[in-house]
Amino acid sequence: MLKGKDIINTSQFSLQELNLIMNTAANFEKQVKDGKIIKNMEGQVVAALFFEPSTRTRLSFETAANKLGARVITVANAASSSATKGESLADTIRTVDGYVDVIVIRHPMIGSAQIAADNACHPVINAGDGAGQHPTQALLDIYTIRKEKGVLGSHTVTFVGDLKYGRTVHSLGYFMALYGNKMIFVSPKSLQMPADIATDLRSRGAEIEETDDLQKALTVSDIVYVTRIQKERFEDPAEYEKVKGAYILNRSTIKKSKPGITIMHPLPRIDEISTDVDDYEGAAYFRQAHNGLYIRMALLALVSGRV
Ligand code: CP
Repeated sequence: MLKGKDIINTSQFSLQELNLIMNTAANFEKQVKDGKIIKNMEGQVVAALFFEPSTRTRLSFETAANKLGARVITVANAASSSATKGESLADTIRTVDGYVDVIVIRHPMIGSAQIAADNACHPVINAGDGAGQHPTQALLDIYTIRKEKGVLGSHTVTFVGDLKYGRTVHSLGYFMALYGNKMIFVSPKSLQMPADIATDLRSRGAEIEETDDLQKALTVSDIVYVTRIQKERFEDPAEYEKVKGAYILNRSTIKKSKPGITIMHPLPRIDEISTDVDDYEGAAYFRQAHNGLYIRMALLALVSGRV
């Protein structure tokens, strides 16, 4: 169903495809935990092209490829590639496409993953295109919600923080709408969810409330998805200073929230979740990061037709 396909944004998926990805991830998770040697991608090569910093996405993709028996070639930062000599993204991709079987790309420009896909014969996976989309993060997010909550629909989910530049919430919003969840967007006025995305989500039937009152939202939320203020995307550092630290979750915030609330964060965090929350049983963010390995194993195996 996904063989040969590019993974560019979350609006591309059907429910059937999402079920396939999550069930494949669960199967790989069991095999990894059982200590099985997995060879689905033996003989294949995956390119991990990261023109922006990453810890989780790059390392979990590389681990996923290794666990599937593939080999990996990596650009771990833009400075180490010929992009610094002025080579176009299209030319870079045409070149790498001749070496590998799957291309994973993170790039600061919105739309870069689509440009890569347009210039590659092999499948391209978007690992984050600027402030655009981060579909593999959203896939691991719904895999996490399924594991933490048992079901993917009928939740009230609060997104808090930088909803303007935070690509993870842009991506996850589409899945939350697809599964029939209510969303509450909490942010400073200058970092609200882009109007085109909010409008698109509403046109897909999503129930959305927008507010700046986090504590009130948390009293009715089953899940809170916290995001970092994306300092690197601000053109004016003074604007960042105005909003940094706008929303911070701590143990006392959680005590006043809906009982059983699940706390998610794509990470890295700066100060938006205090470390005193880490031992709260609903703090799912490190489990969430670990789930990325299985989702990325599933994606690599599925797009390369090796499962
Ligand atoms: N969540 C996420 O994309 O983390 P990295 O930037 O470390 O890859």
